Amino acid sequence: MGQFGRRGLFQWKQMDLTSWVIIPLLLGSAGVYGLYRVLQRLRSNAYIQDAVVVITGATSGLGKECAKVFYAAGSRLVLCGRNEERLEDLVKELSRIGKGSNQTHKPHKVIFDLSDVEAVSSAAKEIFRLVGKVDILINNAGISYRGTIMNTKVSVDRMIMDTNYFGPVALTKALLPSMTKNGRGHIVVISSVQGRISIPFRSAYAASKHATQAFFDCLRAELAANNIHVTVINPGYIQTNLSVNAVTDDGSKYGVMDKNTANGRSAEDVAQIVLRAVGERKKEVLVAGVVPTLAVYLRTLAPKIFFTIMAARAKKERKMKEM
Ligand SMILES: NC(=O)c1ccc[n+]([C@@H]2O[C@H](COP(=O)([O-])OP(=O)(O)OC[C@H]3O[C@@H](n4cnc5c(N)ncnc54)[C@H](OP(=O)(O)O)[C@@H]3O)[C@@H](O)[C@H]2O)c1
Repeated sequence: MGQFGRRGLFQWKQMDLTSWVIIPLLLGSAGVYGLYRVLQRLRSNAYIQDAVVVITGATSGLGKECAKVFYAAGSRLVLCGRNEERLEDLVKELSRIGKGSNQTHKPHKVIFDLSDVEAVSSAAKEIFRLVGKVDILINNAGISYRGTIMNTKVSVDRMIMDTNYFGPVALTKALLPSMTKNGRGHIVVISSVQGRISIPFRSAYAASKHATQAFFDCLRAELAANNIHVTVINPGYIQTNLSVNAVTDDGSKYGVMDKNTANGRSAEDVAQIVLRAVGERKKEVLVAGVVPTLAVYLRTLAPKIFFTIMAARAKKERKMKEM
């Protein structure tokens, strides 16, 4: 066996395999993956830059942050909301961000109440008058709710459905014919983890988000052949005023910043995730921590366990309210 002996020969062969096969393979794979990511980013940037992007609920929270990231990425924005003053403030803020950059476009504002189907139809006409076409619609606006099913007026359930479900559906239907005519389009929906699972004392909100999920899943399938993309984003808690702006069982404002919402993900982070998901034409993104993600899977794979946990949660919350 010469001077190396059997063991030395084995080590030499192993070194040979590592240096000639495994290392080049690993480096090659890393290189190919890196190149793939760069190409993907370029493709994604080209998709978003100069695209006409309509954002509902741009006056605050996630909508406002989406406006900032899409604006910085060079989109032509149409900002929608109910409060003209706040939209104007956002336009001014964006123009400060965009100073010195030659890829930004002055945003347009369209003021309407999403829960009013007639107003949505007029808003769609106004959008086409302003920008001629829509490439990407971000259905972001929404309202949350806190209350017991027993005490909640049906008018409150209806108001939540009008805002979170019928509003986005009406706006999408008004913009779709132009998208199919252009042979391209992208509908984004900010749903919620509560579009996948239902949490006690959130009935109207969870129902509206489940309906939204179902509708846009159907839309994705129906228009796949028309080059219309659908992205549903299902976030968990985000640090916004959603709980403060939520309504209670009698329709009055809840007005409380919930602990979970205050400790949620930052709206800037989630807006970046939305930007990436759109650029990569993702079909669905769950933006949640381990517990909500597990809950989503549990609801499908072990529903009995999920129902028991939710019943315990309801009991605990009821007890805390009584204290
Ligand atoms: N924050 C969270 O923890 C969380 C988690 C999951 C999903 N989401 C979803 O994220 C989206 C954005 O909410 P957010 O967290 O950013 O809350 P937010 O700060 O309360 O923002 C909600 C936005 O929706 C608009 N809006 C509400 N009702 C409207 C109506 N009838 N017509 C037109 N606009 C209306 C509001 O406009 P005004 O300024 O005129 O009220 C505001 O711009 C919602 O769809 C929400 O369900 C939020």
